[in-house]
Amino acid sequence: MREITLAGYGNQGKAWADNLRDSGWKVRITGRPDGKGIAQAKAAGFATVDAQDLRSIEGPIALLLPDESIPGFFAAYLQGGERRQFLFAHGFAVTFFRPPISTTDDLILVAPKGIGQKLRENYLAGSGVMGVLAVDTEQSGRAWETAEAVAEGLGLLRVGVLRSTFAAETKADLLSEQVVLCGAVPRLVQETTDFLVRKGIDRRLASYECLNELKLIVDMMVEHGVDGMMSRVSTAARVGGERARDVILPKAELEARTEKLWRDIESGAFARSLENKLATTRETEIHP
Ligand SMILES: NC(=O)c1ccc[n+]([C@@H]2O[C@H](COP(=O)([O-])OP(=O)(O)OC[C@H]3O[C@@H](n4cnc5c(N)ncnc54)[C@H](OP(=O)(O)O)[C@@H]3O)[C@@H](O)[C@H]2O)c1
Repeated sequence: MREITLAGYGNQGKAWADNLRDSGWKVRITGRPDGKGIAQAKAAGFATVDAQDLRSIEGPIALLLPDESIPGFFAAYLQGGERRQFLFAHGFAVTFFRPPISTTDDLILVAPKGIGQKLRENYLAGSGVMGVLAVDTEQSGRAWETAEAVAEGLGLLRVGVLRSTFAAETKADLLSEQVVLCGAVPRLVQETTDFLVRKGIDRRLASYECLNELKLIVDMMVEHGVDGMMSRVSTAARVGGERARDVILPKAELEARTEKLWRDIESGAFARSLENKLATTRETEIHP
């Protein structure tokens, strides 16, 4: 039976634990000694291991902790063990914080492209979410094998995985969430809904038009692409949309502002701005 230790029992940790256990893996949970995760994992029937004992643990260890806290956890509990395999659900910590790995370690990325809840729900429904796999340092010769096995256990192979690098996954993920997913789209939804309400429209109607209909448009774009979606909406929607996008988001300005955000990601300035969030990362040197 394959075995794995998961450090962190939060959004991703819970979904990884449930999916891997249901896929036949022996799963152990660990975390910081004063955290809630260990007790929750025990209550859910998982074996647990003290963080202090991690240096001698067999099998791969997945670091499913907030990205800014990974270097501190690594330094406290993982530095200096025997040849090991470390897995990450996001390339951020390795790309910008560079945990103090030993030259005999494997660093493996298995990044589900979805929140933990979706990872679990889709698994239970017989599907999964798409994933990105990467290997940064491979000393064992078996890093890709582990990446594929974990991806299979999580249900990612049911949808598909892309092989990439830690840096590409991190930078594409950060830029897309800053510009599209958590930047422009939420602001457009919120501001346009409030605008309609100020103009006397019922909030439920305004919200339905701006938010619920967005989901239908996104589903169409995923299925048919942006142009395919535009060719399927009404004439009023297409003509109005083509006119409005240049008013709301002029292409040249959008490109220049996106370039600025990209530079902050590439230079490590954005990563540094997260540095103050956690006292545990104060000592961490951020690269480049
Ligand atoms: N949010 C998502 O669904 C999502 C999606 C894709 C990728 N990811 C990636 O998955 C990884 C885990 O993210 P997550 O959202 O699952 O994390 P999370 O839920 O925010 O945290 C996971 C666990 O980390 C522990 N923790 C919190 N602060 C800590 C600290 N300062 N030091 C040590 N442990 C700490 C907590 O457990 P205790 O209280 O028990 O210590 C918590 O339950 C990250 O690399 C993230 O980028 C997340």
